[in-house]
Amino acid sequence: MSDTRILVIGACGQVGTELVENLALRFGNQNVIASDIRDEASFDVEYIKLDVLDREKVRDVVVSNQITEVYHLAALLSATAEKHPEFGWKLNMDGLFSVLDLAKEGLLKKVFWPSSIAVFGPTTPRENTPQRTVIEPTTVYGISKFAGERWCEYYHNRYGVDVRSIRYPGLIGYKSLPGGGTTDYAVDIFHQALKSGTYECFLNADTSLPMMYMSDAVKATIDIMQVPTEQIKNRSSYNISAMSFNPAEVTEEIRKHHPNFTISYAPDERQKIAESWPASIDDEEARQDWGWNHEYDLPKMVNDMLHNLEKLHFSNSN
Ligand code: SER
Repeated sequence: MSDTRILVIGACGQVGTELVENLALRFGNQNVIASDIRDEASFDVEYIKLDVLDREKVRDVVVSNQITEVYHLAALLSATAEKHPEFGWKLNMDGLFSVLDLAKEGLLKKVFWPSSIAVFGPTTPRENTPQRTVIEPTTVYGISKFAGERWCEYYHNRYGVDVRSIRYPGLIGYKSLPGGGTTDYAVDIFHQALKSGTYECFLNADTSLPMMYMSDAVKATIDIMQVPTEQIKNRSSYNISAMSFNPAEVTEEIRKHHPNFTISYAPDERQKIAESWPASIDDEEARQDWGWNHEYDLPKMVNDMLHNLEKLHFSNSN
């Protein structure tokens, strides 16, 4: 019997949907609770409606369910936070404190909180961006993630909180849709390729960004939470990487399977955000400290995405 009791906050989002499934497989359905702000959601584990800004309710859920670990995923992503800067800052920061303070009180053994490549800005070296470098983010999302990283390290150093974090690149999966990010095109493109055979991309053809297949992101998330605490030498957030590509390159790869697929480009306000982020990431420290290793590169990811989405489209049309 596992004595780990997990609460996932923001479980209905792009990462949460798959993370909950995997945590339940590993720790047992009865040891995982999914929560989000929706009234209802369909999970194989218990679901609780929970707003991370409601500190009392978060505390109550943690205490009454003997939760030992929180995976706190609720956030406004880059494009949405630019539309609602004040709320983006509030949700992203106050939500984090709501969880870190419970750990500080000793109510949680471990906390997972994701940061992002969005912490980097236009003054950061774009290629092979190092773990430690110039960090001057220009989006509300990036500023909140960078501040959050500093607070995580502070809570670890000052209060001994066991918080662990990784900087997610753009995430691509077939089981869930992203919401409000700059890297969302890399998921939309697959759906449109199968639905209409053509896609209008909101980034330019040559805008390279770091990306990762969802199964690798979920593996990284669960792996970093399992290693002995002394292996986590970085208490702000680890760079992790798997692949980098631009819209033209992923299009070429999709065309190997669907030769008639076409793309056009109509960059919008997200182009500027993408240009301020790294094109590729150096993740040597994560590989050394806790054995991070990715499985999916661009061809393997495209193959798996198309295969699984085709199955879903086929079963939906029957
Ligand atoms: N995928 C996120 C976004 O585009 C980056 O972490 O906002």
